[in-house]
Amino acid sequence: MASSACKNEKEDITVTKIIQNSGLNEGPHWDHQSQKLFFVDIFNQKIFSFDPATGTTRSVYIANGPVGVAIPVYNELNTFIVGTGTDFALVNWNSNEDNTSATVEVKATVDKGKTNTRWNDGKVDSSGRFWGGTMGPEINSVVTPNQGTFYSIDSDFIPKVQISPVSISNGLTWSLLDDTLYYIDSPTYQIAAYDYDPHSGGISNKRIIFDLQKNNIPGLPDGMTIDSDGNLWVAVYNGARVIQINPVTKELIRTVHLPTSKVTSVTFGGPLLDTLYVTTSGLGPIEMKNEAMYAGGIFAIKNLGVHGLLPNLFRTNV
Ligand code: BGC
Ligand code: CA
Repeated sequence: MASSACKNEKEDITVTKIIQNSGLNEGPHWDHQSQKLFFVDIFNQKIFSFDPATGTTRSVYIANGPVGVAIPVYNELNTFIVGTGTDFALVNWNSNEDNTSATVEVKATVDKGKTNTRWNDGKVDSSGRFWGGTMGPEINSVVTPNQGTFYSIDSDFIPKVQISPVSISNGLTWSLLDDTLYYIDSPTYQIAAYDYDPHSGGISNKRIIFDLQKNNIPGLPDGMTIDSDGNLWVAVYNGARVIQINPVTKELIRTVHLPTSKVTSVTFGGPLLDTLYVTTSGLGPIEMKNEAMYAGGIFAIKNLGVHGLLPNLFRTNV
């Protein structure tokens, strides 16, 4: 596509489709060591790597079930923690290779007693601890409410319930001072904040810092990241946009439009962490003009004038 697929407020912002993959793409993660972007395709049960320097895409198929999230393990070459189905597993994959199978070592299973829930978004905190949650069954775009749970998982692999119930556990990130967790349960239309203690891994004191409906923004808040100024970047599912929010003033700072409606997640990447990588979903009906050629695309947004932070990696032995 032409480098800018749709009109945006600042003339020099470019929105470029870098990959086409028609599944439910999610969970972008910039890997500093390999300078690659990782992301997952949930229902096609794949983890992808993309090397922006060469344009090469590789993937691995995980037979275990839908892949909600995959994050590299610190200091363990080719090892990922993966939320697949309701299992939390260690997966071995050399991301320079296309593989149709991988070793999956299940370390924990969540949502016992629930039917048809699955892992959705997750991330690792500054202590190397995983945080992520599940969502209920989704039939024709309708998700059974209150079937999911938000967990943390330490190096002992024992899941700890953090918030229950939730409906679609989604985006999360931590404040620059590392004292606040920002969290999205999509159907609430809200971004919540909790006091967060990195040592104990406890959260408390929930408050709402932004409500999409109250701000007349269409769609649902989905994946989220933070920039080095402490502002949040939120993917808006069914909203064809990414929004930048100041969590202190609770104000909308900027809107960046995408040429497809199901925008699922965001992360900063590139050598200077100044490219905003955006995943979208290719599933479901086409709603926008020319959307077919963009739905399911992975986009690189440049010239935003901000940069992100390096994501944390899971620590198996702390
Ligand atoms: C989920 C989708 C869901 C969407 C709604 C995504 O994170 O993976 O299944 O439809 O959120 O916000
Ligand atoms: Ca998501």
